[in-house]
Amino acid sequence: MNLPDKGRDVGELLAEIARMKEADLPVRGGKVTAYVYDTGRPEVHEAAARAYAEMLEVNTLDPTAFPSVVEMERQVVGAVADLLGGGTGIFTSGGTESIMLAVKAARDSRRVEGRPRMVLPVTAHPAFHKAAHYLGVAVDAVPVDPVTFRADAAAVEAAITGDTVLVVVSAPSYPQGVVDPVGRIAGIAAARGVLCHVDACVGGWLLPWLRAAGAEVPPFDLSVPGVTSLSCDLHKFGYSPKGASVVLFADPALRRAAYFASASWPGYTVINATVQSSKSAGPLGGAWATLQALGREGYLELGRATLAAARRLREGVAAIAGLRVLGAPESSLVAFASDEIDVFTLSDEARKRGWFLQPQLSYAGIPANIHITVTGVTLRGVEAMLQVIAESAAAARERGPVRLPEGLVELVAGLDLEALDDAAFGELAASVGVDLNGSGQPEMAVVNAVLDALPADRREAVLIRFLSVIYS
Ligand SMILES: Cc1ncc(COP(=O)(O)O)c(C=O)c1O
Repeated sequence: MNLPDKGRDVGELLAEIARMKEADLPVRGGKVTAYVYDTGRPEVHEAAARAYAEMLEVNTLDPTAFPSVVEMERQVVGAVADLLGGGTGIFTSGGTESIMLAVKAARDSRRVEGRPRMVLPVTAHPAFHKAAHYLGVAVDAVPVDPVTFRADAAAVEAAITGDTVLVVVSAPSYPQGVVDPVGRIAGIAAARGVLCHVDACVGGWLLPWLRAAGAEVPPFDLSVPGVTSLSCDLHKFGYSPKGASVVLFADPALRRAAYFASASWPGYTVINATVQSSKSAGPLGGAWATLQALGREGYLELGRATLAAARRLREGVAAIAGLRVLGAPESSLVAFASDEIDVFTLSDEARKRGWFLQPQLSYAGIPANIHITVTGVTLRGVEAMLQVIAESAAAARERGPVRLPEGLVELVAGLDLEALDDAAFGELAASVGVDLNGSGQPEMAVVNAVLDALPADRREAVLIRFLSVIYS
């Protein structure tokens, strides 16, 4: 950035932001089936934006200085606890932070002989691996059922050791949208004296409304015996602006173990409920206003529309030759795979037609697939979406599997990334047609095919380098 000598006019700044956003995927309208959550009701997003701006400059760092933060947070956390079986909680910036706090609380509330360990199904979100990495906890990953994709309770039980501080289940897990056997696994954890976290980042503010609309949803919240904490993202199916999640604890002592205080310096006293210290109350204001603007009726209506769209999508995809839906999701996340069609090419073909369908790499015996998050706005365009999936599948079938330059995978697998600087990595990517200049690249099939052929640790090393290059 060239820092201007003289301050510039706001109109000019907004015009420049609009230009920077030109290549962005649209955040409204339902054609982007990941990352964004649209109610289809602009007035709700407008209310959230205004409340967000109203709270923007309030710092949640000191709740005694800004009592509005306490009042608002108690209301928002209270609403989540009322819907999800009680408990006491913390408002956080997102699923990852909620999970980080649940892992910290588990680690600090049970002293074990060795390194603290956590048991998770392979379908659990990477936020748990991140928390483990940051907090020095070891991960014991266990397989899921190869047909239902739900966590295997017996495998979880067998993985628990004397050093296990936490067992994790998802409601639902993101990759296939299925709900793990929460009751069984929480019961096993309780019998072994281990805490159990339900990752309901996706489902917490979704499954109750789907259930009310007629979906079969098994019990998954804090009312289930043995469940000791739960994360619920309001910036997903709560439809709040980003930066909004709640972590609930069954026991107030566990919430205290998530907190942090420091008086070990000569400055102001630090009391933090979250990982972040100084932070804007904007997201809290946005979440509070969204809950108020939609109300119970609004969420019920969104739940009905979401359920109808998810059912239609599952049935429509299953009817397209060569595609199959993975598992039987209770939620509104739908993943489909194919033995005949390259799903990465299908995703690129959809992108050419103006739709973003999220590709997922193969892992732990689960095939590569396309993942769609059905939201409140999907129903209006579900037939158009199915049409695009059918056309993109036909085009991908015609194009055949991605043909990678000979030796490319071996080359990437054997790369000494330490010896390669960012510029050389960028050149290497360009030589196989991948532009890392940060301008939205719709043709991703080659990249995905290369990543798909690599083991997870190589994928991670390449992805970190990729991030470093696009920000250099
Ligand atoms: C099941 C699940 N848990 C946790 C997360 C992490 O949430 P966030 O991206 O808000 O940190 C996600 C995100 O998609 C998720 O799907």
